[in-house]
Amino acid sequence: MPTLATTSDGRVLHTPVLCERIVELLSPALTAPADDTAAVLVDCTLGMGGHATELLSANPQAQLIGIDRDSAALEIAAQQLAPFGDRVRLVQAGFAELATVLSDLGIRQVAAVLADLGLSSLQIADQTRGFAYASIAPLDMRMDTRQTLSAAEIVNTWSAAELARIFTSFGEERFATRIAAATVAARPITDSAQLAMVVRESLPAALRYGEQTGHPAKRVAQALRIAVNGELEQLSALLPSALARLQVGGRLAVLSYHSLEDRLVKRAFTQETTDNAPAGLPVVPQHYQAKFRLLTKGAERPTATESANNPRAKSARLRAVQRIKEA
Ligand SMILES: C[S@@+](CC[C@H](N)C(=O)[O-])C[C@H]1O[C@@H](n2cnc3c(N)ncnc32)[C@H](O)[C@@H]1O
Repeated sequence: MPTLATTSDGRVLHTPVLCERIVELLSPALTAPADDTAAVLVDCTLGMGGHATELLSANPQAQLIGIDRDSAALEIAAQQLAPFGDRVRLVQAGFAELATVLSDLGIRQVAAVLADLGLSSLQIADQTRGFAYASIAPLDMRMDTRQTLSAAEIVNTWSAAELARIFTSFGEERFATRIAAATVAARPITDSAQLAMVVRESLPAALRYGEQTGHPAKRVAQALRIAVNGELEQLSALLPSALARLQVGGRLAVLSYHSLEDRLVKRAFTQETTDNAPAGLPVVPQHYQAKFRLLTKGAERPTATESANNPRAKSARLRAVQRIKEA
């Protein structure tokens, strides 16, 4: 595990993205319910517990179910969240399994759900995990190290057509076909530096050193990471199950970091917050009325100051909804 900056009492220093706004958006759902029971908050992407710490501190009535697929993240989060004692339960799982996680804990409905997608600073900092494509790293990229599919397997065994498909659809890489053919020709590819060289040499000369578009392997690395971790499938499964489990008044906030994720979130939220009555009815009957309302206008972005202080925030987009009617 990499050495992480810590405070004098041993807590990992980490700046959660758009944290104040997320606390503001989710807290109204986490205040004490009338019957004095706990309000359940699910953080589906616990990471190092940065958002969870602030949410639990701001809402003494809240109980946290913290989910992450990464056991290293859960280990750190457990230390960070220790002061909250039995208000915290942690589960290692992909968030696509949210319904099963909640059923196993005997929880039917929840007050708030947070998903802060993508990688944690811990994963990026740990060179052995293979997420840092700009250095020499193994081709791994698994968030859950119990899974067998790794970037090495994709790079060294998938066909050129399959590689081109993921480089295009998950990386939005213009030169996907050339890069895929060069990847197959260069096998075996053993580390990120070798892969970056293959990518660089497949590009037109003017783009090889990334002056205009950032690191030349950035889009291929994004595509591999999304494919290894089934990230879009995970998100597509999470959204309906999180919405289905929200109690009336419950809130869901999603922070995404690239347009593929944000598009899925925007589509799901638009659909759920729109009445779906057949055209021409003078009044929308109850069962056609939207069950959710938008809490954010479009996607909210961090301020220039937050992005300057926390580069991870730069591409963040935040959307949130609230359940207003029973299912
Ligand atoms: C951006 S970090 C979260 C940081 C966290 N909000 C904090 O403040 O510390 C994203 C975390 O989500 C986890 N993650 C990503 N996709 C996941 C999935 N499908 N299921 C469960 N955890 C996931 C990653 O392992 C990572 O630890």
